[in-house]
Amino acid sequence: MAIFNVTSETINQAANCLKKGGLVAFPTETVYGLGADARNAEAVKRIFAAKKRPENHPLIVHLANIEQLSDWAKDIPDAAFKLAQHFCPAPLALILKKRPEVDYAVTGGQDTIALRVPNHPVALELLRKFGDGIAAPSANRFCRISPTRAQHVADELGDDVEMILDGGACQIGVESTIIDLSGSVPMLLRFGQITRRELEAVLQTQILIPDAIVQSNVRTAGMMEVHYAPTTKAVRCENAVLNEFIKTESQKIGVLACGSKISATKNCKIFTLPSDPVAYAQGLYATLRELDGLKIDLILVEQPPQNEAWQAINDRLSKATHYVESIIDD
Ligand code: TXA
Ligand code: MG
Repeated sequence: MAIFNVTSETINQAANCLKKGGLVAFPTETVYGLGADARNAEAVKRIFAAKKRPENHPLIVHLANIEQLSDWAKDIPDAAFKLAQHFCPAPLALILKKRPEVDYAVTGGQDTIALRVPNHPVALELLRKFGDGIAAPSANRFCRISPTRAQHVADELGDDVEMILDGGACQIGVESTIIDLSGSVPMLLRFGQITRRELEAVLQTQILIPDAIVQSNVRTAGMMEVHYAPTTKAVRCENAVLNEFIKTESQKIGVLACGSKISATKNCKIFTLPSDPVAYAQGLYATLRELDGLKIDLILVEQPPQNEAWQAINDRLSKATHYVESIIDD
């Protein structure tokens, strides 16, 4: 087992492992990342192999501080410095034009690069010890649920990663907000804890959300049809539909409730996450993993509220489950 408790010694060991081209999984405030030396194309290729992720799917490069942005990006607009100074370290990734020497292995062949200064003491310590950018996607297999505990990484990637630094449960639980500042208008590419409104308040300008991103050449986070998905069939519905269905159902069902009380029946196991979006997000992926491990026929997710505070959660749920108005047994 490659899980290590965090000490200054194991962080040094992890930094050395990265320098030698190894893979190190480490905690961030959002989800666990699968790290490699972002200047080492061979090491970066090992990330894609371990995740079974297509090589045209770009990675986020993690940095210890915002001064390092210019080591990786060129023509950085004022908007990027404004956001970086206001939020970082933060669950926010900035897409900027890449410097010419940055290898296309990291950017999936694109001329832009995603950069992020994570707000987590272990990640920051590792980045400082390592001294340069660490490329790190979420430490899960391609299209599966992101890990929010060290054990999730071990379960999924096992021996494909040299070290897993155990920083406990991730505080935020869903991936960072991604904003693209490489074009003429800022675009929000992924919803996260930092909302569009908060970003707009700092930039004093409108941020667009591309609706045709799926058809474009840019392959971005969670914009694919299937993403963040459990292997068990999973649907999402309103509370009333859910309650009606489980009363009579004979299949083995797992329910993910949002705050509300749902009475368990013989074939049905209930998991309840808090009705507060911050606490719900923290527990979401771990609970989906647990439900997925139950060997049941169906996962039913109660539809949470649909306002901005729930936007990142609803975005991930819409990738993991299908919304249904009624449930018809098949
Ligand atoms: O919270 C997070 O961002 C976590 C932690 C580990 O930092 N990382 C993460 O990485 O979620 P990943 O690779 O699972 O998702 C990053 C997304 C990718 O889906 C990728 O498509 C998008 O960022 N991305 C990276 N570079 C891009 C670029 N140049 N243009 C557009 N999208 C980009
Ligand atoms: Mg991911």
